[in-house]
Amino acid sequence: MLDGGALSARLAEQRDGGADRDTLLRAAVEGIEATSDRYDWVGIYLLEDGELRLHNYVGKETEHSRIPVGHGVCGAAVAENRDINVADVRELDNYIACSLHTRSEIVVLIRDPGTGAIHGQLDLDSDQPAAFTDEDEVELRRVADWLGRLFGDV
Ligand code: SME
Repeated sequence: MLDGGALSARLAEQRDGGADRDTLLRAAVEGIEATSDRYDWVGIYLLEDGELRLHNYVGKETEHSRIPVGHGVCGAAVAENRDINVADVRELDNYIACSLHTRSEIVVLIRDPGTGAIHGQLDLDSDQPAAFTDEDEVELRRVADWLGRLFGDV
């Protein structure tokens, strides 16, 4: 089970040791992915020039390295300014499939701690239906909130 507080503490140690933002974003993805077999694909998209750009991921290769705001689950989360937890991706009309095996997906927004502005998102896919629990969401939010501090003035 992911412990978002513990992972954030490890990331803070790396930052204090001089790790830059790109390194920390990669470490976050690897740290999340390592905690559960339910997490089949874990990635971070950053919102840059009005579109989502894949920063790094662990899992099967995807061709969706850029996603316009409003498209798919990832783009909908930005357009609707909310986290999205989809129990069964087969029920969505606007789903962008990265893998035909994916059954559920969660997107947790990375926000500026001051303004709430969206910097990007954690995106997780699972081959199991309804894989992402409320507990997953809480722990992922902890990591996303920590990552949000790496943008802006920092
Ligand atoms: N399924 C996402 C696209 C990203 S892949 O899952 C890696 C979506 O519908 O936005």
